[in-house]
Amino acid sequence: MTTKKKLIAGNWKMNGSLAANEALLKALLAGVGAPGCEVAVCVPAPYLAQVQSLVAGSPIALGAQDLSAQAQGAFTGEQSAAMLKDFGVRYAIVGHSERRQYHGETDEAVAAKTAIALANGITPIVCVGETLAEREAGRTEEVVKRQLAAVIHVNGHCISEIVVAYEPVWAIGTGKTATPAQAQAVHAVLRAQLHHAASEHAAGIRILYGGSMNAANAAELLAEADIDGGLIGGASLKAPDFLQIIAAAR
Ligand code: G3P
Repeated sequence: MTTKKKLIAGNWKMNGSLAANEALLKALLAGVGAPGCEVAVCVPAPYLAQVQSLVAGSPIALGAQDLSAQAQGAFTGEQSAAMLKDFGVRYAIVGHSERRQYHGETDEAVAAKTAIALANGITPIVCVGETLAEREAGRTEEVVKRQLAAVIHVNGHCISEIVVAYEPVWAIGTGKTATPAQAQAVHAVLRAQLHHAASEHAAGIRILYGGSMNAANAAELLAEADIDGGLIGGASLKAPDFLQIIAAAR
């Protein structure tokens, strides 16, 4: 029997401004109350300090959207895990499909980022997911299993410290959500893989769904047995929608 709470994490992607962030967070803080789930916002790096101070003492945790696989040094443009930790970052998205697609991030890089996040006390939200072509070719299971396998044996850390996010690429920002049954089928595959690797921890590891999750479809997705929360893009930028998703995650 597990007592894990669901996690609803907003991924703002490359959106926001000082003024827009403040308005969004004020509305979220006014409406969030005592949520029945964990809540986080993963914000663009320049706004970490702003959001850290706005969410201080609230139930909303701070997250980053990426981090460097390197500890420090001559890596222009990168942010290290230790730097993120300085700003109170609790979660970091790792291996988002947009980074895999536009920045050539490999499974090996995702594993290295996962390891350095864990070493710095940051919980990585490791994204996996197939493209439309891979789904249509019947390769969904093979792809997500390969992506998860890359992070399953991160040296010296227990797999139970990570969060997994299943984000079918064809559902991201398209308004085309996986059906609850489609999502649950993949989550069950991932759960089985976790069980095989670390049976005592598998039930406690949160597997989030991401891909056009919104106020209207969140409840039915979150009702599935192996869907332990959501990684929300577009709908996390609208306070009423994000609050409705949080309310659905009990
Ligand atoms: O990481 C969240 C994500 O990729 C889903 O984006 O806009 O489809 O909710 P969206």
